[in-house]
Amino acid sequence: MKSEGKRPVGIFDSGLGGLTVVKGVRKYLPGEDIIYFGDTARVPYGNKSRSTIVRFAREITAFMAKKKVKAVIVACNTASSLSLNVLKKAYPFPVIGVIAPGVKEALRVTGNGRIAVIGTKSTIGSLSYQKEIFKRDSDARVFSKSCPLFVPLVENGLANNAITHQAAQMYLKDLKKQNIDTLILGCTHYPILKKVIRKVTGKINLVDSTLAVVKEVDELFRRKKIKNTASRKTGKISCFVSDDVKGFRQAASMFLKEKIHVKKVVL
Ligand code: DGL
Repeated sequence: MKSEGKRPVGIFDSGLGGLTVVKGVRKYLPGEDIIYFGDTARVPYGNKSRSTIVRFAREITAFMAKKKVKAVIVACNTASSLSLNVLKKAYPFPVIGVIAPGVKEALRVTGNGRIAVIGTKSTIGSLSYQKEIFKRDSDARVFSKSCPLFVPLVENGLANNAITHQAAQMYLKDLKKQNIDTLILGCTHYPILKKVIRKVTGKINLVDSTLAVVKEVDELFRRKKIKNTASRKTGKISCFVSDDVKGFRQAASMFLKEKIHVKKVVL
C-alpha cells in the first residue's frame, strides 16, 4: 500500500472543463499523480436536478475511492454546488469543491463588498455562492445571473464570436448596473470567456474559482503533510471518460500540451 502522500489526487468534472484544474495542479503541485474523470456521456450537468447531480457525483467519487485517491477535487461548479456536502459526509478523504475557494478569493479582492456570480442554471438556483459569501461576510451584497448559453458557445468554438459578445451583453447588463467591483466566474467554461466578459463589464475583478481551488489544495496538502514531494519532476495523469475516448484524448492532449492516456469506463 502506497503512503498517503504518494496516492493520486482525483479530479472530476462533467466533461473537459475541469482540465483547467488539472493544469493548475500540474503547475503548483507537479509531483502529484492525477486521476481525472470527465463524465462525457452525461454532460451537461448545468441544467439537471439536485438528485441527478448527487447520483452522478456519488458514482464518480466511488470510482475514485476504488483508485485509492488521497483526496477528490470536484472541479465542476454545478457538482460542487449540489453534491459537495453529501460527498464530504460519505468519504473518509478530503473532498474539495470550487465554491468556497472562489468565494474566499472574491472577498479578498473586493473593495466595495458588491459581488456578482454567474454560473449554470443549477449552480445559480442552488444559491451555493450566496450562502458561502454570507457565511463569511454578512454585510456583502450579492447579485447573480445564470448564463445557460455560455457553455454551448464555448464548446462550439465560438468564444470569440460576435454572438458570444451579444450573449454576454444580454446576461451581464443588469449586473453592471449594480455597481459591482467583483464578478465570480462560477463555471468551468467561463474563464475562456474572460476577454468577452471584460469587454462588457469594464475594469472589475474577475475571479476564476478553478485557480483558487488549486491554491487551497496546495495549502491543505501541506497542512496534512500529504503533498507528493517525490523527487521525479512530474506526476502521472490518467484520464477516464464515460463516452468515446478519441475526441477527449485529442482535446486534453492539446490543452495540457502532453500526450494524455484516456480510458472509457462504465460506472
Ligand atoms: N462543468 C460545469 C460547471 O462548472 C459546466 C458544464 C456543464 O453544464 O456540465 O458548472
